[in-house]
Amino acid sequence: MPILDTPRLILREFSIDDVDALACVLSDPETMRFYPAPLDQAGVEQWIARNRRRYAKDGHGLWAMISKASGELIGDCGLTIQEVDSACEVEIGYHVRRDHWGQGLAPEAARACRDFGFAHLHVQRLISLIRPENLPSRRVAEKNGMTVWKEVMRANLLHLVYSIQRETAAGG
Ligand SMILES: CC(C)(COP(=O)(O)OP(=O)(O)OC[C@H]1O[C@@H](n2cnc3c(N)ncnc32)[C@H](O)[C@@H]1OP(=O)(O)O)[C@@H](O)C(=O)NCCC(=O)NCCS
Repeated sequence: MPILDTPRLILREFSIDDVDALACVLSDPETMRFYPAPLDQAGVEQWIARNRRRYAKDGHGLWAMISKASGELIGDCGLTIQEVDSACEVEIGYHVRRDHWGQGLAPEAARACRDFGFAHLHVQRLISLIRPENLPSRRVAEKNGMTVWKEVMRANLLHLVYSIQRETAAGG
């Protein structure tokens, strides 16, 4: 069942059958260079299980990104609840399989998630947590209308908190 439909992508819930396809994204060292380590098979299984718990509890999570052109799973994008400075924020997150980088797919999915978030959730703001060195991800946040709100430490690493307010999204 599609959750979101964009010109080139479908976003749908992950199932455990997606482990091998998702491993092509999250087990790639280059894609995961801003994370502690690429995920192994067990890590990918846990990642899917964690997002399935989010669907049940929150009504959203990171969803599977499916290419309409090929039908393949080529990444993830979605909305997760994150604690930032003791407050709960809703984050837009994304990962794209390396052979699909640079085609504007993450911004296309992120924008759909942004619109979904403001349409369905009672939040004034959506955020993206991004390491300062992660220039491609910062670019995606900017293309999604976000600006840097503040800095936080997470897992002993500095992160920029990008944000967009509901009113700003409604205006553009
Ligand atoms: C971040 C990511 C999702 C972007 O996906 P994408 O679909 O390739 O996004 P885009 O097509 O918009 O390309 C990225 C943008 O960053 C720019 N970019 C890429 N490398 C860059 C660099 N080294 N310096 C500056 N800008 C860079 C690209 O030029 C492009 O911007 P442009 O369209 O204005 O030219 C993808 O790179 C990825 O999966 N990265 C690893 C996972 C990750 O870090 N996720 C985010 C965690 S916060």
